[in-house]
Amino acid sequence: MSPESRGLFITFEGPEGAGKTTQIARLVEQLEGAGVAHILTREPGGTPLGTRIRQVVLLEPDLQVDPLPEFLLYSASRAQLVGQIIRPALARGEVVVCDRYADSSLAYQGAGRGLDAGLLAQITQAATGGLKPDLTFLLDLDPAIGLARAATRGEPDRLERADLAFHQRVRAGFLALAQQEPGRFHVLDGTQEPDDLAGQIWAVVENKLRMGQAEAHASSSG
Ligand SMILES: Nc1ncnc2c1ncn2[C@@H]1O[C@H](COP(=O)(O)OP(=O)(O)OP(=O)(O)O)[C@@H](O)[C@H]1O
Ligand SMILES: [Mg+2]
Repeated sequence: MSPESRGLFITFEGPEGAGKTTQIARLVEQLEGAGVAHILTREPGGTPLGTRIRQVVLLEPDLQVDPLPEFLLYSASRAQLVGQIIRPALARGEVVVCDRYADSSLAYQGAGRGLDAGLLAQITQAATGGLKPDLTFLLDLDPAIGLARAATRGEPDRLERADLAFHQRVRAGFLALAQQEPGRFHVLDGTQEPDDLAGQIWAVVENKLRMGQAEAHASSSG
């Protein structure tokens, strides 16, 4: 559990087309079925400001956005989302499920675009006030497979149009982050069947929710 909150903050990360949005929908069904209070949000987006930023950074591929301003726009969306949506939901004791978060910036703008990791960490700290997920599911797969999946959705966005070498660096960046924080990250092979992935994800979340209840019980009775 986040030390500053009673809720549970879960993020999904991974390359394009890895199955994040698919698995998030499955997790939300499970949470609903279990009667667990939750919200679903995404980056960039999730607030009126974030939705406008999403339009600029993703959906206008012909607009020139250099790496640093790109990162700052993501960070602006993130800061608004944390303050307006995520922290209040965690304070209410809810589960927050977020489709991408700060790890995506470290992987895409750091490993992918080559911005300095120290600078990214510093600005991310400022944007989030240091709020980190309790659990992060990294759906890992060869970016060629993910991009081929995503291509079936129609017009590629800005990041989907980047070259394969970029996406390989992003994948490696995600895996390096997971190695640094093995307690937070659960790395799953994204080429598995959706049902199998959903089962593995729910097992981890259910266990974490149970641990949270046990902690709450221990603190209220002791
Ligand atoms: N485990 C899976 N096996 C095969 N295909 C899958 C699997 N999970 C999702 N897909 C398909 O791959 C495509 C991309 O899935 P999805 O949109 O969930 O990925 P994403 O990680 O959210 O992508 P993006 O990074 O672009 O948001 C969809 O067409 C989806 O139906
Ligand atoms: Mg998605």
